Amino acid sequence: MSVLIKGGRIVTAADDYVGDIYVEDETITLIGADLDQPADKTIDATGKYVLPGAVDPHTHLDMPFGGTVTIDDVESGQTAAAFGGTTTHVDFIIQPQGATFAQALEEWRAKANGVQVIDMGYHMAVTDLNEGGTLEELATLPDEGITSYKLFMAYKGALMVDDETLFRTMEVAAETGALVMVHAENGDVIDVLVKQALEAGHTEPLYHALTRPPEAEGEATNRAIQLARLAGAPLYVVHVTCREAVEPIARARDKGWDVWGETCTQYFFNSLDDIAKPDFEGAKYVYSPPVRDKSNWDVLWNAVRTDILSAISTDHCAFLWDGQKTLGKDDFSKIPNGGPGLENRLQMIHEFGVRAGRISLNRMVELLATSPAKLFGLYPRKGTIAVGSDADIVIFDPEKRLTITAATQHSKSDYNLFEGTEVTGSPETVLLRGHVLVENGELVAQPGIGQFVERARFGEELRRGPAPAAA
Ligand code: URP
Ligand code: ZN
Ligand code: ZN
Repeated sequence: MSVLIKGGRIVTAADDYVGDIYVEDETITLIGADLDQPADKTIDATGKYVLPGAVDPHTHLDMPFGGTVTIDDVESGQTAAAFGGTTTHVDFIIQPQGATFAQALEEWRAKANGVQVIDMGYHMAVTDLNEGGTLEELATLPDEGITSYKLFMAYKGALMVDDETLFRTMEVAAETGALVMVHAENGDVIDVLVKQALEAGHTEPLYHALTRPPEAEGEATNRAIQLARLAGAPLYVVHVTCREAVEPIARARDKGWDVWGETCTQYFFNSLDDIAKPDFEGAKYVYSPPVRDKSNWDVLWNAVRTDILSAISTDHCAFLWDGQKTLGKDDFSKIPNGGPGLENRLQMIHEFGVRAGRISLNRMVELLATSPAKLFGLYPRKGTIAVGSDADIVIFDPEKRLTITAATQHSKSDYNLFEGTEVTGSPETVLLRGHVLVENGELVAQPGIGQFVERARFGEELRRGPAPAAA
């Protein structure tokens, strides 16, 4: 199968030029001006942006959490991703208590086999190093392409680990070349604040945010940074929301330490005003760390612009408002934490980042594709447009106007965090390894086309097949 993409504005993290792309056998084999290679399919991209398929390093599909299971399984979540221009994601395996890592991996693979729409990798979330997986077993995961370990410093009584588990995992990562990821909030302190709020009769969604203050995120972020430094492990702080967490990351990076951070689309747009909405509507915005005061929006834009934060993910962890979020109707601590987002990341960051003049088009590509691909061992196979890279390509119409709404989304959730937002610019055609996934508003590929990608160790590159011949 060969594809010729003609006349588009090719934008990578580094370049911006008009050209043609030729794809053979799933990879990009030629980039140039006025290519006229015979092709099975030719796409006219005149007037469109031609972007690398976006990479989402933080998603939760088909995950048991908060007394229920996320509403998006692999097929629906990845379909939403494809429409949003994301062609690769890295999902979290959550080690069930008492299970070995091999058992956890088998369980998660079974959820994905045969239904994958896009390519994917896994992080391993370590919850138990006593009864289940061992440090020795953890050390073998990078050999299977699972090259990042995730630890939750919050969700006491569920996913939270103690500092010993955190530190021992960091020591393993330092040995094996894995990247350590942390959900950085002080779970012990939050647990006290939640109990106090409930004892005082505060049951509404707003108290989810009020019992998880920015200081709890800042403290845990700083603790993780110091422990990773001690262990000699590289650290990636997920879903950073506020100044209190941005500052320790900025300091660490300024010192040249191996520390990176991401934020997520929703933290630029949702705020305490949303979670305070009446009639339990605020529950739609219950995720952790929580929505913050709006003053943090500029802090985050500044952090992504200046590379204090290096990626924007979605933390897609979708639930129904009606039927799942309502588990916490009388007690905010029982509202499942998480929200949908896989479909709208590119549209939202293009509109309010690029079109609003906050970041350049190149920086958008870097934040949504190139940098996550580099940090998570997928580059240069993923995350860029180059000869030898997988032909994961988004043809993006910068003039397309639309209103984001749950009514037309592909996630199974019954709401959208950005409901009613008007944007100009949206993916038009999406290719995965040269196969057309989305065209004319339809999913045209069959589930099963997506593959599991074995990622390279931290700092190493991922290539496939023999190196392409010189042009
Ligand atoms: O509320 C959230 N973010 N749910 C997903 C799990 C996590 O903490 O990332
Ligand atoms: Zn988290
Ligand atoms: Zn998450």
